[in-house]
Amino acid sequence: MTNTTPKDLRNAFGNFATGITVITSIDTKGKPQGITINSFSTVSLDPPLISWCIDREATLFNLFQQAEHFAVNILSIDQKPISELFASSSLDKFSKQSWSSGIKSLPLLNNCACQLLCSTEHRYPGGDHMILVGRVIQTKNNGSSPLIYHGGKYKQLK
Ligand SMILES: Cc1cc2nc3c(=O)[nH]c(=O)nc-3n(C[C@H](O)[C@H](O)[C@H](O)COP(=O)(O)O)c2cc1C
Repeated sequence: MTNTTPKDLRNAFGNFATGITVITSIDTKGKPQGITINSFSTVSLDPPLISWCIDREATLFNLFQQAEHFAVNILSIDQKPISELFASSSLDKFSKQSWSSGIKSLPLLNNCACQLLCSTEHRYPGGDHMILVGRVIQTKNNGSSPLIYHGGKYKQLK
């Protein structure tokens, strides 16, 4: 039970500043797919685990529920258009963005602040979302400044 309205809850959750990631994988036809996510969190150093949550209503829910591997592309300061693109219903998002293939054919977006290539370790129910825990199998860190999301707005570190 909660006496908080959905709007209050959104505002409260939105007051937690996060980075922005695009989680990518390939579908059963080998086509790259991706979704903008800010529910990413680090979990454990040993073993190296991270988590994120996907809406059960998302178009890519089935893909990520079944994916054995995925990549976390942590967006850099100038990649707001990429966040907007991968949060949209645009078809063929990858033709509008430069990218390359990493291990396990994982799609890696160019010029990100950092990338974590993961195998799916656990899947947990999380209300209207599913919680995915990934084991990091490779990191690519270029150290550039990250894009920040806070209160429903894109921001920069000062
Ligand atoms: C900044 C930002 C953060 C988001 N974070 C999440 C998230 O953590 N989990 C999620 O399922 N969707 C998240 N979304 C929404 C998805 O990117 C996507 O827009 C939504 O699932 C609708 O996709 P669909 O029309 O293909 O179903 C986020 C969107 C934005 C703009």
